[in-house]
This record gives sequence, structure tokens and C-alpha cells, in this order.
Amino acid sequence: MKEIVGRGKWASKAGFVLAAAGSAVGLGNLWKFPYMAGENGGAAFVFVYLLLLGLIGMTVMLAELTVGRHTQLDALGAYKKLSAKWAWVGGMGVLCAFLIMAFYTVVGGWAIKYFFGSFAGAANIDFGAFITAPMEPLIYTLVFCVLTWVIVFYGIGGGIEKASKIMMPLLFIFIIIIAVRSCTLPGAGAGLDYYLNPDFSKINGEVILAAMGQVFFSLSLGMGCMITYGSYLDRDSSLTQSAWMIPALDTTIAFLAGLAIFPAVFAFGMQPDGGPGLMFGILPQVFDKIPAGTFFAAIFFLLVIFAALTSAISLLEVVTAYFVDEKSVKRSVASVIGIMGIFILAIPCSLSMGALANVHVIPEIAAMNIPAMGFFDSFDFLTSKVMLPLGGLLLCIFVGWVWGTDKAIDEITEGGGKSFPLGGIWSILVKYIAPVAILMVFLSGFGVI
Ligand code: PHE
Repeated sequence: MKEIVGRGKWASKAGFVLAAAGSAVGLGNLWKFPYMAGENGGAAFVFVYLLLLGLIGMTVMLAELTVGRHTQLDALGAYKKLSAKWAWVGGMGVLCAFLIMAFYTVVGGWAIKYFFGSFAGAANIDFGAFITAPMEPLIYTLVFCVLTWVIVFYGIGGGIEKASKIMMPLLFIFIIIIAVRSCTLPGAGAGLDYYLNPDFSKINGEVILAAMGQVFFSLSLGMGCMITYGSYLDRDSSLTQSAWMIPALDTTIAFLAGLAIFPAVFAFGMQPDGGPGLMFGILPQVFDKIPAGTFFAAIFFLLVIFAALTSAISLLEVVTAYFVDEKSVKRSVASVIGIMGIFILAIPCSLSMGALANVHVIPEIAAMNIPAMGFFDSFDFLTSKVMLPLGGLLLCIFVGWVWGTDKAIDEITEGGGKSFPLGGIWSILVKYIAPVAILMVFLSGFGVI
């Protein structure tokens, strides 16, 4: 087999797990999960999320890592190698990476603004005025893009792994500090109640689709990210262990993010249903009222930047690996092409908060619960609720029926050398349960059943 020069490898097993967990833990955990849980029935949403995580998330995670390690190729190359007809599914993943990055880098930019702003009091920033302005958010988006690019430029072991090894443990410590601070504020109990008291009456098809989209988004699944990260693994690494450790770390951080946010919001009598603006619009007001709030705010936004960066590098890596493996482009050039394309797409996303607010990319389709959306919201919707679950569905069909679970299990167990007692259950999950579950959630989310 032709070895692709300059692909790179993880330097250590722990490094890989941290980098993959770094990809998973991101704005999805800190920014999306808490407000989605808050809006959709609190603990009831968390319950649905955990169910889908166990049924679909972990199944797909193992499948992606296995395809990646087996083929040692980027997302598109991996599908192509196993069955040329399926290459387009990998290609859809690369496209998805561009679309996610387009809005992800915008929010990453907001976090940088808030980090610097926190020294003078982040509460002084007018969130609405800031994000609707034409130029300033774009400059921060560009800064975020450059930071992401620098890490990816330095490669797998030297860039991504090193950066994750520093940022991930710090992130873990920071979120615990903030969560403890928040839960010990007087009046924190009401927030805990709101976040953790299940309200099952809020659960409907739409909410379940939102939870499923969140599982895919939060675990970085359905678009070849874990295929790509898995492709830098050596054969002696335990895939099954990674397939539960990464989701476990991811879920712990998402849960802690809720514990950091809701008690504080309630302690100061703020509105918990702030939606996407919850983290930026409301938290700074909360920090403003806490002793040493400047310190906590700075730490918090640094945490957000770290989390966003370790995810953004994995998205840029999907694009970079594609150009390196498929187009034989040098890593340095591939990463530049990737980040430039991403920044160009990020421009309308950022502007859709203000100047382009009335430009609708997706029109309203009331019968399918789809509102009219601008660039930012459309890209978020198309990726989280459509492309990622669809990518996961196709991956399950591919591994279950085209490549075959026997061959996949052979890769997982390294030819039978390693034990995989849950292999039989996993096969059933990949072949039947996960695809049917994804399809049903799709149909009910879009009002078809
Ligand atoms: N998992 C990341 C988050 O939760 C986002 C992401 C999605 C990263 C898809 C890579 C691929 O923020």
C-alpha cells in the first residue's frame, strides 16, 4: 500500500484521547448544551440526550474510529478505499466541516472579545450591539481562525496533541472552579432545580431531534472527524476504550457547564431561557455581581476559548487531511487553503447577526417545523439537525452492511487478539438499532410521523 508522506501520528495514547476529547468538548458543551437543556425540559432533555448517547453516539463513535484506524486515511479517502461508490459520504463530511467552522469561528471570536473585555468588566459589553456590528466581530473571527490554523499547521503530534495536552486539563480544572463557585452562591438551589428537575411534558419529536443533533454535534460525529483522528492511530490502541472514554469526558463537561451556568443565573434573578445569548449576554452580568468576578469571568472565557480551539482544530484537520491525502498537497498549503475557505464562509455568518439579518438562506417550511433562517442559523441547522445525523445514518449502513461488522470487529480486536465482549451487541446496534432510531427521530422531528 502506498504510504502517504507527511501524514503524521499521535505521539502517545493519552495524547490521542485528550485530542479526541478536545474535539468533542467545545462550544457544543459550554454554549449549546446548557441553553438547550434549559429550554427543553431540563433533566428530561438530559435524560433523552443520555439515552441517544448510549444508543447511537457510542455506536457511531466506535464505528468511525474503526474505519479511520483501518484505512489510515481522511474521511473521503476512507470511504473510497472501502467502497468507491461511497466516497461522496466522506465528501459530505468535508463540506460539513466547512459549514460548521463558518459559524463556529464566529462564536470563537466572540469568546476572544469577552476574554479581553473581562478585564475591564465583561458586563460592560453590549452583546447585541457587538455581534450586530459589521467589522469588530469579523476581526475577532479572523484572530480565532489564525490561532486554529497555527496549531493545525504544526501537525498531529507537534501541534494538535501538544495543544490539547495543555488546554484540556486546564479546561477541566477551570470548569470545576466555576461550577463550585456557582453552586455555592446563595440562592443557587433554584437554578439546580430548573436544570435538573425533569419536565417530561416538554418532550416531543422536535425536542428529540434537537437532542439527537446535539449528540452528533457534541461528540464530533457524522462528518468524518473521528475517522480522521482515528487514522492517526497505530494498531495497538484500544478503540473500545476510547469509544466510551471520549463520550464520558464530553458528557461530564457538558453537565458541569450547566452546573456552572444555571445556579448563578438564578442566584441573581436573571432569565434562564436566554437561548444562544445565555453564555455571552447573561453570564457576564452574573460575574459582575460575584466577589472577584473579573477573575472568574477571565477564567471562564479563557476556558471557552480553549474548548472552542481544540474543537476547531479537529474541524480544520478534516479539511486539511482531505487535501493532504486526496490532493497530495503539503500540510502547510492544505491548512491555509482550508482556513481561507472557512473565513470566507464565516463572513456572511457574522454579518447575518446584523447587516444580513434579513437575508434568508432557508425559507420557512411550517409543515416541517422549519423557520426561515439566515446564514448563521442555517449552517447550524443544516449541520446539526440534517447533515451530521444523516452522515451517522449512512456510516452505520456502510459499516453494518457494506464493509461488514465482521471486518470491523476484526479491526477492533486486531484480528481476534483483543477481547470485545460487547461485539455482538455493537453489531446489532450498528446494523439495526442505530439506523432505525436515527431515521425515526428524523421523521418525527420534521413532523412526518
Ligand atoms: N464537538 C464540538 C463541540 O461540541 C463541535 C464539533 C462538531 C467538532 C463536529 C468537530 C466536529 O463544540
